[in-house]
Amino acid sequence: MASTETAPAQATKQTIDPYNVTGEIGEDGVMKAIDYNKLIEEFGTKRIDAELLARFERLTGKKPHRFLRRGIVFSHRDFEVILDRYEKGEPFFLYTGRGPSSDSVHVGHTIPFEFTKWLQETFDVPLVIMLTDDEKYLFSEKRTIEEVQGYCSSNAKDIIAVGFEDRNTFIFSDFDFIGGALYRNIVRMSKHITLNQARAIFGFNESTNIGKVHFSAVQGATSWASSFPHIFGTDEKTTVAIPCLIPCAIDQDPYFRATRDVSSRITFQGTRYAKPSLIHSSFLPALQGPGTKMSASIDESAIFMRDTPNQIKNKINKYAFSGGKVSVEEHRAEGGNPEVDVAYQYLKFFMEDDDELERLRVAYKKGELLTGELKAICIKELQTYVAAFQERRAKVDDEVVKLFMSTRPLKWGGNPRAQIV
Ligand code: TRP
Repeated sequence: MASTETAPAQATKQTIDPYNVTGEIGEDGVMKAIDYNKLIEEFGTKRIDAELLARFERLTGKKPHRFLRRGIVFSHRDFEVILDRYEKGEPFFLYTGRGPSSDSVHVGHTIPFEFTKWLQETFDVPLVIMLTDDEKYLFSEKRTIEEVQGYCSSNAKDIIAVGFEDRNTFIFSDFDFIGGALYRNIVRMSKHITLNQARAIFGFNESTNIGKVHFSAVQGATSWASSFPHIFGTDEKTTVAIPCLIPCAIDQDPYFRATRDVSSRITFQGTRYAKPSLIHSSFLPALQGPGTKMSASIDESAIFMRDTPNQIKNKINKYAFSGGKVSVEEHRAEGGNPEVDVAYQYLKFFMEDDDELERLRVAYKKGELLTGELKAICIKELQTYVAAFQERRAKVDDEVVKLFMSTRPLKWGGNPRAQIV
């Protein structure tokens, strides 16, 4: 193996944090797939194993979502605490969010929301969805406050179109909603994070604007039920003990590491703050391959939720990185590599049928199935997914957004599936 002295300058380790997602770049200058095992180790999270999934199925009576079955949602922190509470009928809630950085939502953005929707249907608990317009202003050189605020409404429509219900879901914009109980909790949290800790967790330095440092408390304090008296009531002694489960992509973990640390150190009139639990998803790879995620600002990297069936077809055919061989003869003889093949990877995210997916994997590996054929199946699957989304999206108007974003009590617990214990 070459020593680091001889490695070319461009060779870099993988970087996964809230602001960067890139796989390792090897000495040959080629980006590798993201190593999720390494992340579990580095972040100190737990792998979602068969035992945990079996318990989940026993408790909920529901077959685990395909993201869980296939290791797409692969890691967690204290998910078993949430299952314990579900088993005992004790309250908890779901929390997730999105940074409104543009109007262009792509299929990768919908993954954590699809999964959140499924968790909510399973548990029938309240869900809060945070739109971090403040974050997207603070972390960008160019964006104005007016611009990010402008994205909130269309982003909320896209999120609602994933299939959420207004009875148990509250969506808010940081700029519009923060004040009152949530602001008190933000300040409570920020008081307990030192600059040294923020630097160590987020990689900030002397030139970092102070808004970024403070924002970690904004994203964190949303994990506390006492931030939402309109949902959980005003008795803080009770609400501080209600934990949340945060479904998120793994890059968001640093925010909640800080939150969990603060939660374990402070009390409200003798009651400890509940630590949030987390369940982490991996990234839908960019069309170019498994080392990066889709980017909203690079059109040929992503399938957008507003793409037409034809655009989807052309992008997959033109850009989707292939694990197949250069000639048909060679492919038939040697077979393809589904692990790096983007069409196969997308099918892993979107095709529901486990047996059919396995059949495709084996046939592709043996060379019986060609890249063009695999791509055609992937195109159909994505066209169906995007068309169903567009149909729901067309029904979401400004009034619906206003309802989801209004400060109001929520209703939950009426789902018969949530009663199976
Ligand atoms: N920081 C996230 C983003 O840039 C948005 C976000 C806020 C979030 N709270 C969250 C994402 C909780 C997942 C879970 O997209």
